[in-house]
Amino acid sequence: LFSHVELAPRDPILGLNEAYNADTRATKVNLGVGVYYDANGKLPLLKAVREAEATRIQGAPARGYLPIEGIAAYDQAVQNLLFGAESSLISAGRVATFQAIGGTGGLKIGADFLQRLNPQAKVLISDPSWENHRALFENAGFTVETYPYYDAQTRGVNFAGMLQALEQAAAGTIVVLHACCHNPTGADLSAEEWQRIIAVAQARELVPFLDMAYQGFGDGIKEDAIALDLFAASGLNFFISSSFSKSFSLYGERVGALTVVTDGKDETARVVSQVKRVIRTNYSNPPTHGATVVATVLNTPALRSMWENELAEMRERIRAMRAGLVEKLQAAGVTQDFSFVLRQRGMFSYSGLTASQVDRLREEFGIYAVSSGRICVAALNQQNLDYVVQAIASVVRA
Ligand code: LMR
Repeated sequence: LFSHVELAPRDPILGLNEAYNADTRATKVNLGVGVYYDANGKLPLLKAVREAEATRIQGAPARGYLPIEGIAAYDQAVQNLLFGAESSLISAGRVATFQAIGGTGGLKIGADFLQRLNPQAKVLISDPSWENHRALFENAGFTVETYPYYDAQTRGVNFAGMLQALEQAAAGTIVVLHACCHNPTGADLSAEEWQRIIAVAQARELVPFLDMAYQGFGDGIKEDAIALDLFAASGLNFFISSSFSKSFSLYGERVGALTVVTDGKDETARVVSQVKRVIRTNYSNPPTHGATVVATVLNTPALRSMWENELAEMRERIRAMRAGLVEKLQAAGVTQDFSFVLRQRGMFSYSGLTASQVDRLREEFGIYAVSSGRICVAALNQQNLDYVVQAIASVVRA
């Protein structure tokens, strides 16, 4: 049975964790996966999470099956966070949210549902995009192509190229967009640019699928939802996958969601019934713990403000690390201008390091980064920054 099974390559991102864990060098640094570490290099367990967990454990809850679509209070809290509690979309019954197994799970059930709706549709992802987007939509049965996104010259968005590609897309094309903190480039669209994308999506009858994995890591919870506000106001039907992996530091609990915006209550009911079938045949129903914790934090004012402060602290520490990186690279005599790192949003810097420079960082220094040159700034701290700077200086020089 297995004699013809070929060895698959390691995952381009999570495979780095495997290699990093096997590395015995004490000085090793993992700048690969998108995970926030605190100033001491530790994965934080947020205070708000700890409090919500303590309350839950004290109550010794039984662990029955959840509804297929997840915990109602969680799904509602997700909608409120994405659109604001006062959103007219929500009150009009135009929003359906499904608790999902992380943001990836949200993408997957959305992709499977879309495949049933329109199997011939093409999927367009940004060039470059999160490594898993292509594979995920291809696995769901779609042909995946790219639209231009990153401009290596300006280190910003090639907006004209992006717009032109979308203007040429066939009706029904699914367009995967990063709502904020673009992964891997950290280059986001302005509000005006989002408006123009929305106008094209309307004119061309495209199906926008917004991936929102880093809400709160750019400029703030509300500020990072600007694209969602504009889409909400547009009248379009669209999809959102969202995640609390990063913003709640709950990576392993797999707490995410799929949200679908429809034309109205009746459509919502039909969409819900179909997405429930997709979930039932994938994993039946979602797990209890993480989503209960997130719902408790979001729905309890004292815990919520504690969480918002902790999220702000993470965001600000990443900013400080960006500044430290730029400053120290310059002080180390690197003549190449790295100031663009300050403009990038979210956890990552698309550093411009080449694949062979990334190889050298790993082989010579035990510093792990994605081969595209993406480094996770959220894994830098005062203890490892000088070492990382010296290593980068050495590979960009020679
Ligand atoms: C990343 O891009 O590093 C994260 O989203 C983690 C993942 O699942 O790849």
